[in-house]
Amino acid sequence: MQKVYQGEIFFTPKQAAEYFNLSLSTIKNYIYAKKLKTLKTPGGHHRIRRSELLASLGEREEKYNAQEDSMVSMGTCSNVLVNAFKALGSAGELLILHSRNVSKISHDLARELAFTDREIALVKIAGILHDIGHIASKKNILYRKGAISERDYELLKAHASRGKEILAAIENFKDIADIVSQHHERPDGRGYPLGLKGDQINRLSRVLSIAEAYDTIVAPYSYKKTLSRKEAIDELIHNRATQFDSEIIEVFVKTL
Ligand SMILES: [Fe+2]
Repeated sequence: MQKVYQGEIFFTPKQAAEYFNLSLSTIKNYIYAKKLKTLKTPGGHHRIRRSELLASLGEREEKYNAQEDSMVSMGTCSNVLVNAFKALGSAGELLILHSRNVSKISHDLARELAFTDREIALVKIAGILHDIGHIASKKNILYRKGAISERDYELLKAHASRGKEILAAIENFKDIADIVSQHHERPDGRGYPLGLKGDQINRLSRVLSIAEAYDTIVAPYSYKKTLSRKEAIDELIHNRATQFDSEIIEVFVKTL
């Protein structure tokens, strides 16, 4: 139970997490980022005033909803996606499922990382549209298991820059064009389309890249061998710093 001192109600970080339906690590990230003021007990434990909690996180929730509406609604994005992938048949349906998962995972991860409201809204939308460039991919090479020719692989890779071209041409999606185009870049510079390295890669793209890889590894519809959650975590950790942002990976695996 929360404690009452001099008419004020105080929460522990764990109670604050339950109150807002967030994870404890998110609350801790807020505290460390000084976005949530706390008092310390004589034993050095954080305590958060109820009024402070409502002012910081309550206001944040409202701002988030308003932000999403002022940019573009998820309903609109879903419609864009469904119509864009219609011609791709069953591969298009799998891409829609994958895109929705990536959006949800990216959104949750950005919240865990205590990103700003705008960044969280952006990554959620970038997540759902991140593979939009596949609109021009041949449906017989999407989700194909087994070997793929060099030429077809190059065609598949083109979806990243094609996605940027499509989104940059639409007023409401301009802000996510670069985030989408960089979702296959890698910190070691071996990604595509530009071979950017480390901090050159947009940090929202680094979130997308992890969400995409995780969904591709565990989804039953994956073109790769589907792995368990534990095996997926091992694979992500194994590739941190080369394929993924190691700090973001650390936060992500804690949330799984
Ligand atoms: Fe992709």
